[in-house]
Amino acid sequence: MKKKLFDLFPEPIPTFDLILPAVRDWLQAYRGSLNDFLSNEDDWLLVNRDLNGRVRLILPERIKESEQRMLWDHLASNLMQRLGKHAYPKNAEILFETNRKQALQGATSYLVDGFINVWVVDRLATEANWARIAPETEGVPRIVFFSIKGGVGRSTALAATAWSLAQKGKRVLVLDLDLESPGLSSALLPPERQPMYGITDWLIEDLVDNGNVIFESMAATSNLSHDGEIHIVPAHGADHGEYIAKLGRVWMPKLQVDGTREAWSSRLDRLLRDLEKRIQPDVVLIDSRSGIDEIASACITELGANLILLFALEGEQTWNGYRMLFEQWLRAGIAQQIRERLQVVGAIVPELDRAEYLAGLREHSYEVFVDTLYDEIAPIKIGEVGRRLDGTWWVGGLSEGWNFDEADEAAPHHPWAVNWHRSFAGLLSLQGRLAAIDTQEVKSVFGALIDGVSNAVDGRETP
Ligand SMILES: Nc1ncnc2c1ncn2[C@@H]1O[C@H](COP(=O)(O)OP(=O)(O)OP(=O)(O)O)[C@@H](O)[C@H]1O
Ligand SMILES: [Mg+2]
Repeated sequence: MKKKLFDLFPEPIPTFDLILPAVRDWLQAYRGSLNDFLSNEDDWLLVNRDLNGRVRLILPERIKESEQRMLWDHLASNLMQRLGKHAYPKNAEILFETNRKQALQGATSYLVDGFINVWVVDRLATEANWARIAPETEGVPRIVFFSIKGGVGRSTALAATAWSLAQKGKRVLVLDLDLESPGLSSALLPPERQPMYGITDWLIEDLVDNGNVIFESMAATSNLSHDGEIHIVPAHGADHGEYIAKLGRVWMPKLQVDGTREAWSSRLDRLLRDLEKRIQPDVVLIDSRSGIDEIASACITELGANLILLFALEGEQTWNGYRMLFEQWLRAGIAQQIRERLQVVGAIVPELDRAEYLAGLREHSYEVFVDTLYDEIAPIKIGEVGRRLDGTWWVGGLSEGWNFDEADEAAPHHPWAVNWHRSFAGLLSLQGRLAAIDTQEVKSVFGALIDGVSNAVDGRETP
């Protein structure tokens, strides 16, 4: 009896992180009534968390004047009591909308476990929600170089990979999407080869339907490779112009004449498709911004990347960062789609105590993957049913679960090592450095990464 009273009149939650657990509790407590109310196919309930972190319900317009209305008011006010400061005030607890799509207004939503028509909608002040994932592209392989921390040798490794793939005769397209801290193109191109414009210019001109004017002048070829070709699209052109004024506008969505809205990440994808059509590369390498950032989110989740390289320096900061990201993918129900594309790269592995360092890196990487993205390992019996961390079900005998041993070299958590080498230390002239380098030297530093990327590219070429 006491428990029941507590359920009906719970203590309000203290802070943001308890919003979703409180919503889940509430849905569970009223499961029966909610399922009755939402029994028609075209019924829906949105639990909307707004920009300030306040929650209210959104329901179909027809409920407003219906006999269900009183009951919904009652349910809503019970939820609001649980949510404390994170609740909407009385009389604003429910919003009515004609249809679900209109109510969403492009925000991310995810279906609540165990309900077929209850969604949580999360509105963020940025478009980087990390909660959607575009399907893998079926055309030219797209490979994203990402790191949770900056300055870990990501761009250097990308340049060396591009160089090496080109030496093997590939046409490589390189995109510098580290717009806020560009540098890759100057690493790969001497000043006289820099193109007139860059990605930032295109994103700005596209807003006023003027992208065509610069499209032909935003890529340059590197003279580093003898056999294949490296085409580079820089963040900005030879003359960076009003870069800061442009940068502040790149994430603008584009409003089409018919009133539809194209998110900036879709514009970027459109640019990439046009560049692929124009340059006809065998592979696209993308230098993403580091950290949990809006551009990085677009690179990782919106461009249909086939391989996502996660650069990692051993240390708590790295693994906490990746854990945050992986947990968000679990929460949003996209973990299964994204996890098969991931690969950890050991960034700038020190010469001293190399083996120990790599063992520590691998152990911590494994811990994070096991706690989040890998399925729990359990002896599976035929007919047995269980639940994965992301809420999906497995049935014994049909699925073995997706997991790996810590020592499995083919596992995504098992780092491909990039070694520290004095000739790459220091920011000066990577371009000059690569021009003079021999294959053996590159192999000794970047070998594992280059082999891994080459295999991924070749694997897709011969299905
Ligand atoms: N394999 C390596 N051995 C030694 N030093 C390296 C190596 N790779 C990169 N460095 C050095 O580390 C520094 C950072 O490299 P780089 O700019 O490639 O990192 P980044 O991760 O792209 O950084 P940012 O986040 O700023 O873009 C540079 O000074 C570079 O010369
Ligand atoms: Mg960089």
